[in-house]
Amino acid sequence: MHLSWNDIAAWDRIRRLQLINSITGYKPANLIGTRSSAGIDNLAIFSSVVHLGSNPALLGMITRPDTVPRHTLSNIRDTGYYTINHVSHDIMREAHWTSADWAADQSEFEVLGIASEELDLFSAPFVRDAPVRMAMSLVEELPIKANGTILLIGKLEFVRFPDAALDADGSLNYEQLQSVAISGLDSYHSATRLSKFPYARTQNWKGLQ
Ligand SMILES: Cc1cc2nc3c(=O)[nH]c(=O)nc-3n(C[C@H](O)[C@H](O)[C@H](O)COP(=O)(O)O)c2cc1C
Repeated sequence: MHLSWNDIAAWDRIRRLQLINSITGYKPANLIGTRSSAGIDNLAIFSSVVHLGSNPALLGMITRPDTVPRHTLSNIRDTGYYTINHVSHDIMREAHWTSADWAADQSEFEVLGIASEELDLFSAPFVRDAPVRMAMSLVEELPIKANGTILLIGKLEFVRFPDAALDADGSLNYEQLQSVAISGLDSYHSATRLSKFPYARTQNWKGLQ
């Protein structure tokens, strides 16, 4: 199939957004935990978390335009803190339902029965059963002029995961962690590692091994 943007633009809205939301391939599944200034905990699934740099450890995520109330965005703006929690097989159903439009005074943790946890006196809530949990502080908010979305840039304050998930080279082992991947806005996948390659340096090239 070959589709020009004009072809796609002529589709109905839902079909178009299904195609474009799934076009980038597999995305990470994360739950963003925040606390409002009134003390209400909030949880929302985001598939747009992205690595921005390792020193300092900066992660970005894209939030939809603030033309309607966005609890995650307003809580992060108000407090400056949030948590990023990987979604595992065990919590993916509940995680998906955090995307519904729950009222500001309803905590998704309570409505959906997702266990929360406080760690190290950090002021935003963590998902107790998430295999990887990160404490983040907001460092920058970048409006994307092209469509009104916003890039939130956060600095990693601390991270927790099971000891067994740390490989000897320092990377996380996803066979151990069982974090899931997302495609589109509605599909959840498990992944198996096909291979792990050495760092690619031209001077080490001897043809494909
Ligand atoms: C699979 C999936 C991925 C999503 N990823 C994002 C995202 O990256 N950014 C975003 O703003 N909303 C995303 N959403 C929508 C939010 O989860 C949804 O708007 C939610 O209601 C926000 O809750 P809040 O108002 O409590 O922040 C996603 C929804 C689903 C189902």
